[in-house]
Amino acid sequence: MSLLELDGIMKHFGPVQVLLGVDLKVEAGEVVALVGDNGAGKSTLMKIITGIHKPDGGTIHFDGADISGHSPGEIRERGIEMIYQDLALARMQDVASNIFLGREPTKRLLGTPIRMLDRARIEQEAEAMIRKLGARVPSVRHPVGKLSGGQQQSVAIARALTFNPKLVIMDEPTAALAVREVEHVLDLIRELKRQKIAVILISHRLTDVFAVCDRVVALRQGRVVSDEPITQTSMNAVVAHIVGAA
Ligand SMILES: Nc1ncnc2c1ncn2[C@@H]1O[C@H](COP(=O)(O)OP(=O)(O)OP(=O)(O)O)[C@@H](O)[C@H]1O
Ligand SMILES: [Mg+2]
Repeated sequence: MSLLELDGIMKHFGPVQVLLGVDLKVEAGEVVALVGDNGAGKSTLMKIITGIHKPDGGTIHFDGADISGHSPGEIRERGIEMIYQDLALARMQDVASNIFLGREPTKRLLGTPIRMLDRARIEQEAEAMIRKLGARVPSVRHPVGKLSGGQQQSVAIARALTFNPKLVIMDEPTAALAVREVEHVLDLIRELKRQKIAVILISHRLTDVFAVCDRVVALRQGRVVSDEPITQTSMNAVVAHIVGAA
């Protein structure tokens, strides 16, 4: 069995049928691109995997278990992380705080039952995570809002890694980045692959897709219209699938 297996996923919002029976497999450590026109259903499909949306039909298996109908918390615990396009970082807080946002290590105030943030440990662990990832961030004390888009993306990836995921889903991580920053985010994706973490990369940028992905899946009007190893297709062929000219 594959790490992730979607079988016949259906979803409608009101009268709009968004997904019409989507099958998708991702192997452990594989980097899979999910491409498709605006409104094709990419983000909706990913939010179904993470438990944010409930599908109307179909099943989801992950790491040998049926996770259909599980809550977002349970799904995260099983090892799926999603980095959303808006990143959901706290801009006023520094890098270290963002990496541990909402579950900062605490320590007991000496001689009392009161627990307080263990700031030293937060910074140490944040630094270790940044180093392990090879991310370029000036300091873990730097406010996230003052980092570049690419550096903020690195912080979001570092945060995802603290949950020890087996699969990381990234929704358009390079859409708003300068050329050099794109390269850096692509390096981070390669690093995840080296660490045997599977990635689903949603992207409109086919050069990124062809630079880092093993396989490319095209979604069109709620259906998978192609699913090919990157070595056996071309950008022109993928574009043709996306626009329905294939
Ligand atoms: N929460 C929602 N309520 C109602 N309709 C929705 C909701 N989320 C998405 N849709 C609709 O579902 C369709 C697919 O949207 P989705 O965001 O999945 O597309 P996408 O492939 O991610 O597009 P893009 O490349 O523009 O991000 C669109 O028609 C969208 O308007
Ligand atoms: Mg989307």
